[in-house]
Amino acid sequence: MSLLRTKAIDPNAHTGLRRCLTAWDLTLLGIGCVIGTGIFVLTGVAAAEHAGPAIVLSFVISGLACAFSALCYAELSSAIGGSGSAYGYAYAGIGEFPAWIIGWLLLLEYTVATATVSIGWSGYFAKILSGFFGFELPAAWTSSPSEGGICNVPAMAIVLVLALLLSWGVKESARFNGVMVIVKLATILIFIAIAAPHINPDNWSPFIPERVVDANGQSHYGVMGIATAAALIFFAYIGFDAVSTAGEEAINPQRDLPIGILASLAVCTLLYIVVSGILTGVVPYQQIDLKAPIAAAMGSLGISWAQGLVATGAIFGITTVMLVLYYGLTRIVLAMSRDGLLPSAMATLHPRTQTPVKLIFSSGIVIALIAGLSPIGKVAELVNLGTLGAFFLVCLSVIVLRRTRPDMPRPFRVPAVPLVPILGMGFCGWLMLSLPGLTWVAFSIWMALGLALYFAYSRRHSALAPKAT
Ligand code: ALA
Repeated sequence: MSLLRTKAIDPNAHTGLRRCLTAWDLTLLGIGCVIGTGIFVLTGVAAAEHAGPAIVLSFVISGLACAFSALCYAELSSAIGGSGSAYGYAYAGIGEFPAWIIGWLLLLEYTVATATVSIGWSGYFAKILSGFFGFELPAAWTSSPSEGGICNVPAMAIVLVLALLLSWGVKESARFNGVMVIVKLATILIFIAIAAPHINPDNWSPFIPERVVDANGQSHYGVMGIATAAALIFFAYIGFDAVSTAGEEAINPQRDLPIGILASLAVCTLLYIVVSGILTGVVPYQQIDLKAPIAAAMGSLGISWAQGLVATGAIFGITTVMLVLYYGLTRIVLAMSRDGLLPSAMATLHPRTQTPVKLIFSSGIVIALIAGLSPIGKVAELVNLGTLGAFFLVCLSVIVLRRTRPDMPRPFRVPAVPLVPILGMGFCGWLMLSLPGLTWVAFSIWMALGLALYFAYSRRHSALAPKAT
């Protein structure tokens, strides 16, 4: 039997979810999911330890990998739709097995990224409590066991609060997201407006610091440092693809999904390049704060009110990232379980809210446990590897589908195929190879688990499996 079992394509199929999201909602959803821990936290490590002022180039490289992939996402979402994101496109277009591989990568991306971001949220929350209210949370309740604590309670609590919001309804969640996104964009614009006049161009020289090797034999800066930083801050871009998980709730998915994907990526790329350029122009790269670089830069200019404002904006920003990643995760599981690849009980919707309440809470418990108990810093790079792998396959899918289904209506078409998808695969592959060997080991274990589950359960329960008569 062929592994390439496929299903018929119907982008507007009615699935019980409510179609209520406009192109504007979808763009805000994308921005909501993209700008967060990456720019507010990881930029510090990437600039101070790996790229120096050339962090701007790292953002350009990562942005290019995402731009080529985003164009491919846009074509597939306009032609195929559905809520399963890249999983759904591969399932409808290429076959069940490649779709399973992509779906399994997306589950890794969305689950671990939501948990990672909730740890970042917990750090900012503790900082605001102590900075504004003088209240110190006990370290035992804000750290995982491997960091000497008991569990990270704020990280677990915020996941469960978001579970309640997502269960309430998708329009309500999108409204909440829209308000928070405006607050975080305002925060970033305030940072740009206040910090830009304080740029000292001397801080940009040397633009690419000379390569050094530390006592542990690890290399920093130089051209390789730019690539390492690009692979690290790729995390900052993760999330624009979450727009594609909203296909079944978009009012006009074929027109609005490509708009949402491309517009949110364009806005975020521009902001990242500007913010990282200003940051390294205001603070010498060796002195950039590793935990809260943007807020601390305001502090170093002596503008303490702006430091508090940026910290507050960051917590809003990080909340929306979690909300949209978590939402995306539930929609991908929903699509996979409807196709029989995961237990179908997960796909039931609550009759009043029309949201998958059981699925939201069960996945929330898994995310909260990872967030509260695991040494998440070490697993975060795994998110980048999984996501880059999924993007690589999305670009490949465009090439395959152009050959296997040349006549399929494509309201949005990637220009210059196969060049653009090949460039996307090249950039994603290069960034994947820039990630550490240990991450590849963890990644191989995850993929082996996925294959075992597919052949032991999913293939036999699949909606496409031949039925015994
Ligand atoms: N792009 C998201 C962030 O930076 C995951 O937090």
